[in-house]
Amino acid sequence: VRIAVLGTGEVGRAVAGALVGRGHEVRMGSRTGANEAAAAWAADAGERAGHGTFADAAGWAELVVNCTGGGVALAALRAAGAENLAGKVVVDVSNPLDFSHGRPPILSVCNTTSVAEQLQEAFPQARVVKTLNTVNNRIMVDPARLPGRHTLFVCGNDPEAKAAARGLLEGFGWPPEDVLDLGDLTAARGMEMYIPLWLRLMGALGGADFNIAVVRAEG
Ligand SMILES: NC(=O)c1ccc[n+]([C@@H]2O[C@H](COP(=O)([O-])OP(=O)(O)OC[C@H]3O[C@@H](n4cnc5c(N)ncnc54)[C@H](OP(=O)(O)O)[C@@H]3O)[C@@H](O)[C@H]2O)c1
Repeated sequence: VRIAVLGTGEVGRAVAGALVGRGHEVRMGSRTGANEAAAAWAADAGERAGHGTFADAAGWAELVVNCTGGGVALAALRAAGAENLAGKVVVDVSNPLDFSHGRPPILSVCNTTSVAEQLQEAFPQARVVKTLNTVNNRIMVDPARLPGRHTLFVCGNDPEAKAAARGLLEGFGWPPEDVLDLGDLTAARGMEMYIPLWLRLMGALGGADFNIAVVRAEG
């Protein structure tokens, strides 16, 4: 599959690298065609890797992964262009963290909407799926680095789009039974509002190498 990874930060690089490693062709997108991090990543990642502007990457791709900051995701996708997103699965990994008031960050959107819903509303022809935002990027692409079973969430309005996203997750090593479908895209509110708790867990545990597991009674 031809996949655009929008974002040149550690998440974009981790996701893009893992996708190339699973045999996908990947173009990393950024605000400028000459982004140094994207160029360095593409040079290192081999012949299936490339880079360009958000619009270059999205226009070329069959599927798009948004790995930009939650507060700038709308701007990044506008730069990618509605016509380049129409009909495509857009996997949104972002979190709406606003550090402008210091630490801990506050959420730039919450309660009545989410970044994922904002993207879906702005680009109604895109098929937005929210997933992976509740774990650190190393765990995103290598869940087996944690022992035992642990849970990842997914939500979205389009069942086929969710199935496509689940396929990518399986490629990263997520067992299907540990990927919990929370329903339509309004579930992204809770997935994003979990991040303040995630940040406290990181502080309490002294690092980001953890996840939560949803445990149910049998029967
Ligand atoms: N760190 C983790 O492990 C982790 C885990 C779960 C979720 N997340 C979420 O994943 C996302 C990516 O995190 P990150 O730390 O890798 O990267 P980041 O620093 O949050 O975002 C980097 C990307 O945002 C773009 N950007 C910045 N300002 C912009 C603007 N005004 N308009 C359009 N695009 C803009 C940058 O474009 P240029 O390339 O042009 O500079 C860059 O590609 C975030 O939403 C984060 O909350 C992170």
